Amino acid sequence: MQTIIGKEERLNYAAELIRSGEVVAFPTETVYGLGADALNGNAVRKIFEAKGRPADNPLIVHISAPGQVNSVAQNVSELAFKLFQKFSPGPLTLVLKKAPAVPLITTGGLGTVGVRIPRHPLALKLIEACGRPIAAPSANRSGRVSPTEAAHVLEDMDGKIPLILDGGKTEVGIESTVLDLTKEIPVILRPGAITAKMLSEILPKVIDHKGEVIIAEAPGMKYRHYSPTKPCIAALDPESAAGKYDEVLSGGIIPVIIGREDFVLAGKRENHISLGKTVEECMSSLFSALRSAEKKYGYIILQYFSEPEYFSLDNRIKKAAGGEILGRTLQ
Ligand code: TXA
Ligand code: MG
Repeated sequence: MQTIIGKEERLNYAAELIRSGEVVAFPTETVYGLGADALNGNAVRKIFEAKGRPADNPLIVHISAPGQVNSVAQNVSELAFKLFQKFSPGPLTLVLKKAPAVPLITTGGLGTVGVRIPRHPLALKLIEACGRPIAAPSANRSGRVSPTEAAHVLEDMDGKIPLILDGGKTEVGIESTVLDLTKEIPVILRPGAITAKMLSEILPKVIDHKGEVIIAEAPGMKYRHYSPTKPCIAALDPESAAGKYDEVLSGGIIPVIIGREDFVLAGKRENHISLGKTVEECMSSLFSALRSAEKKYGYIILQYFSEPEYFSLDNRIKKAAGGEILGRTLQ
């Protein structure tokens, strides 16, 4: 199959493909998604095949307005509507009780469904144009870093899908916050740009009595994610990053340091990639920095922030580094 990349002028073609049971990659504000008709089991099966995704890892269903939630979920609470009103369209996925119309293949066999209203105009237009809820995981091959540009999707999906809708570089850069509302106390299954602190304006209980965030793990988080194809380690301070850099270099392998601008400048090593100055900039450039680093260098040293507002970013960094963090002081 030939994979083409098209801009907004291909929107109607994309909608037609989805209506006829095919898979199309499209941009959201977080990362690119690999979309198919969420209510068509055969179409959804093609997503799992193209990604090489384990069948027990549920997909997120994308809708374009809160009014559509009852077509994919049931017993939707007032609280869910309040959250949608406050944070949608935007990077928040709510786990709700599944409606019978949603096939089990979409939800990885679960009785619940993740629902989200993306903010990217092309995503919203696509959902409206095809008139269906769109099931979409991130458009990377399973285990790879999520794509934040159409070219990243092509790297992973060339020949596997007919069309990639190109909406430019994604704005947020890491995947949506997944919040499970089917438990007595709402639980964050995957941290993202909508933080526990932001949610706590509406949901005081997402923070427990000790002031700690209640976090569990989404089914998909048990798989190794975000793994670059080169060895990767995280470092807490520029000195330990530079020390590792020198050690790797003396072994004949070319390393790179990736981090916030102040971190890579303090590391004072030739090969470095600055993610930017703010948490938003760092989020939006992490995945593309990882993809370019693995092509050019033999070893990746990533800044681990350990600052509260970088919590969601650290979550992805820890996964990329396989949990290995240099410079951690033991207490
Ligand atoms: O930002 C995003 O969420 C992107 C864009 C494309 O919308 N999508 C995305 O999908 O990251 P994916 O499939 O790569 O990750 C979805 C995560 C997985 O960890 C999955 O296990 C969890 O959400 N999830 C989905 N439905 C769930 C459910 N019913 N119960 C618990 N976890 C669920
Ligand atoms: Mg993913």
